Amino acid sequence: MLTSNCLFDLIIIGCGAAGIGAALQLQKCQSTTRFIILEARNRAGGRMFTDTQTFGAKAPVDLGARWLHHYHPDNPFYTYYSPSDKDRIDNNTYDRLKTNTFDTDGKLIPLNLIDEAEIIFEQYCTIIEKYPSDKEDISIFDVIRDEYAKIENEKMRRLVGMCLASIEDHEGANLTEISTKSYEIGEGNIDAPILTISDGLGSFIKQIVDQNNLPIEFNTIVTQIDISNQSNRLIHISTLNGHHYSCKYVLITIPLGCLKAHSIVFMPSIPDWKITAIDKMGFGLLNKVFLQFSSIFWDEKLQNIDVITNHYYQFYVCIPEARILVLYIAGSHARDLEQQSDEEIVKTLVISLRRIYPLMTDPIKWLVTRWTYDPYSCGSYSYFAVGTDLETVKDLARESHDGRVHWAGEHTNYSGSIGYVDSAFESGQREALRILEKLEQS
Ligand SMILES: Cc1cc2nc3c(=O)[nH]c(=O)nc-3n(C[C@H](O)[C@H](O)[C@H](O)COP(=O)(O)OP(=O)(O)OC[C@H]3O[C@@H](n4cnc5c(N)ncnc54)[C@H](O)[C@@H]3O)c2cc1C
Ligand SMILES: *[C@@H]1O[C@H](CO)[C@@H](O)[C@H](O)[C@H]1NC(C)=O
Ligand SMILES: *[C@@H]1O[C@H](CO)[C@@H](O)[C@H](O)[C@H]1NC(C)=O
Ligand SMILES: *[C@@H]1O[C@H](CO)[C@@H](O)[C@H](O)[C@H]1NC(C)=O
Ligand SMILES: *[C@@H]1O[C@H](CO)[C@@H](O)[C@H](O)[C@H]1NC(C)=O
Repeated sequence: MLTSNCLFDLIIIGCGAAGIGAALQLQKCQSTTRFIILEARNRAGGRMFTDTQTFGAKAPVDLGARWLHHYHPDNPFYTYYSPSDKDRIDNNTYDRLKTNTFDTDGKLIPLNLIDEAEIIFEQYCTIIEKYPSDKEDISIFDVIRDEYAKIENEKMRRLVGMCLASIEDHEGANLTEISTKSYEIGEGNIDAPILTISDGLGSFIKQIVDQNNLPIEFNTIVTQIDISNQSNRLIHISTLNGHHYSCKYVLITIPLGCLKAHSIVFMPSIPDWKITAIDKMGFGLLNKVFLQFSSIFWDEKLQNIDVITNHYYQFYVCIPEARILVLYIAGSHARDLEQQSDEEIVKTLVISLRRIYPLMTDPIKWLVTRWTYDPYSCGSYSYFAVGTDLETVKDLARESHDGRVHWAGEHTNYSGSIGYVDSAFESGQREALRILEKLEQS
C-alpha cells in the first residue's frame, strides 16, 4: 500500500542548479505541489562545490564551477545573490595585460608576439564562422588544419596553438571533437560581465538551499524509474538503499555524463530519439589542479599565468590571497592526467614552473579534481560534438514516456546557453512551470 507520505506529485532527481531552479520555481508559484528532491550526494549543488577543508576556511576553492557568466541583475539565478564588495565583476576572466605567457624555455613571451598570434587566431574564428551551413559538419580542427600547417615560424605555431588550446579548455574537449557548425551557439551573451564570488560559488548555492528549506533527501542514489504501470499511472522510483517512492511526474536533472553511462534504468526504456541525442551530444572534461605555496613567487598583480610545455599548454589562474595557483586542464590531456597519481602530476607541474621561477619552493598542499571518476557527474559539462546542433539539445530537453518524464540540466537549455550554471538553473525553472501547468489541468 502506498502511504500518502511516499506519494508525490513530482519528484526531482538531482539537486544541482537545475533541480534547485525547479524547486525554487515551485515555491515561488506557492503551489500545493507535493514534491521532493532525491540527491545521490550528501550535499546540494552538484557540479558547484566549494572546498573549505583542504586549504582552510580562509581559502575556499571551487572544485567545479567558479564564475557566474552572463551577469545581469535580471538573470533569474543571480536574483538570489547580491554581490558583496569582496566579489569581483569582470568583463572577461582573461585579461591579457594581467597575463604572463612563458615559452618552453621558461622565457617570457612579449605581448607583441601574442598580439600577432591572436590576429591569426581571429582569422581562424572567421573561417569557423563562415563555414557553409549546407556542408556536412566537421571538427574545428579539420576546418583550420591546413591554415595552421602553413605557419612556418615554430614559435608562432606554438602561440597560435595556445589560442586554440583555450577553446579546448572552454569546451572541455579536443578540437578534433568540437562541431564547427554549432560553434558558439551555446554561449549566450558571451560579452556580458562575469561575477566571481569570493566565498565560492558552492557556498552561495548552499546558502540558497538552506534559506529556502528545500525538501531534499540526501545520500539517495536513484537506480530505477518505472513508468510501466498502466493501471495506476504512477511512476515508481527505486534507490540503491532500497527505498521506494511514487509520483505523477518525474524531473530528471542528472548530468549528461550519467545519462551516457546509463546510471539509471528506465522501464520502459528511454525512447530511441533521446538515446541518440544522449549518445551524440558531447560531454567534455575540465579538471583543476590547485597548488598552494608557502609564499607567492609570481607577480602578485597577475590574474593568469600561461606556460607552454612540450606536452601541453598549462593555463593557471592565480589566487594570490590564498597563495594558490590553479591549473585548468581539459580534453584528452585532462583524461591522461587523471591516470597519474597526485604526486606525479604535481612533480611535472613544478618542473615546468621552476623553469620560469628557479627559486620557487615546492607546494605545501595540493588538490586534484578527477571529474570523470565522480560517479554523479561522469565528466564536466556538455559541448556540441561534431554532428550535433540545437535540435540535439531539444531532444535532450523533450519530455518522454507519455509526458510524465521531464528533463532539465545544463545540457537542455535549447534557447540560450548550455554548459553553464545559469543554463541549468533556468532549464529547471522551465520544466517546473510546464509540470505545474499539467498538474493544474489534471
Ligand atoms: C571543473 C568545472 C568547472 C566549471 N566551471 C564553470 C563556471 O566557471 N561557470 C559556469 O557557469 N559553469 C561551470 N561549470 C559547469 C556547471 O558546473 C554546470 O553546468 C552546472 O553546475 C550543472 O548543473 P546541473 O543541475 O545541470 O547538474 P549537476 O550540478 O551535476 O546536478 C545534478 C545532480 O544530480 C545528482 N545525481 C547524479 N546521479 C544521481 C542519481 N542516480 N540519483 C540521484 N542524484 C543523482 C548529482 O549528484 C548532482 O547533484 C563547470 C563545471 C566543472 C565540472
Ligand atoms: C566592461 O565593459 C564596459 C562596457 O564595454 C565598460 O564600461 C567597463 O568599464 C568595463 N569594465 C571593466 C572592469 O573593464
Ligand atoms: C586529442 O588531440 C590530441 C592532440 O592534440 C590527439 O593526440 C588525440 O588523439 C585527440 N583525442 C581525441 C579523442 O580526438
Ligand atoms: C500497478 O498498480 C496497481 C494499482 O495500484 C497495483 O495493484 C499493481 O501492483 C501495480 N503493478 C506493478 C507491476 O507494480
Ligand atoms: C535558457 O533558456 C531560456 C528559455 O527557456 C532562455 O530564456 C535563457 O536565456 C536560457 N538561459 C541561459 C543562461 O542561456
